[in-house]
Amino acid sequence: MQQFDGKAISKQLRDELAEEVQQMVVEGHRPPHLAVILVGSNAASETYVNAKVKACKAIGYESSLLHFPPEISQTMLLNTIDELNENEDIDGFIVQLPLPDHIDSKTVIERVLPAKDVDGFHPINVGKMALGLDAFISATPGGIVELIKRYDIETEGKHCVVLGRSNIVGGPMSILMRRNTYPGNCTVTIAHSRTKNIKEVCKSADILIAAIGKPDYVTADMVKEGAVVIDVGINRVDDASRERGYRLTGDVAYAEVAEICSYITPVPGGVGPMTIAYLLNNTMIAARKRK
Ligand code: GUN
Repeated sequence: MQQFDGKAISKQLRDELAEEVQQMVVEGHRPPHLAVILVGSNAASETYVNAKVKACKAIGYESSLLHFPPEISQTMLLNTIDELNENEDIDGFIVQLPLPDHIDSKTVIERVLPAKDVDGFHPINVGKMALGLDAFISATPGGIVELIKRYDIETEGKHCVVLGRSNIVGGPMSILMRRNTYPGNCTVTIAHSRTKNIKEVCKSADILIAAIGKPDYVTADMVKEGAVVIDVGINRVDDASRERGYRLTGDVAYAEVAEICSYITPVPGGVGPMTIAYLLNNTMIAARKRK
């Protein structure tokens, strides 16, 4: 079994981007600029957002964090989005999800200019991605594709089972794996909470992508020998032995599945770092268009 080293591959990608930033600056252009909107104080969201801002700084991007109290009105949030859409100093921006209940995420996502939607959540970007047109691919699926590519994993003709059908991960992942390109050309099955015989379906996968949000859900009896296993889960599980009171665990029961698969992503250190690197990659794509 080989472990995908998401940290190392993410660093590779970030180093390439850092080099491009230097080149841009030498040529007299300003570095890429990512803005991040955070509403409220969801602990996980704050961690992700801080990691994104830190990652920007580390490779020479400009970044702006717009942190609003949880009671901000939807109108004020939409006005802020309008301002960012028009601000030529910002190449791309994201609105960290989830948002408080009084704000409609769909309305918010649709307000972001598709050309600045580096999260790739806008229906225009999702639609274009599905049609194989030039579009921002959202960071988690994009990061996974990059990981598969850089490890030269064979995908053509393979049976890929995507466990989970969310708009952020499972949905786009299934589309990307069936594209007529590399990585892709898979026969794809989407399995979810209503799938019958879910164990058997998972066990028939050559490539299993688990994005179901349930800690240690995929056990060894659900995995084919030699399968490639990609664990997208980042679940917080109570753990009194840890100073912070919890530990992070994926959707895959790592120790037992690692015994039988050919490749596996660890949690943490697998898909997570790739997601951030891919957001930076999307921001560079947006910035290149402005040059
Ligand atoms: N919440 C969880 N993942 C993401 C992400 O990739 N982007 C945003 N904006 N919010 C998230």
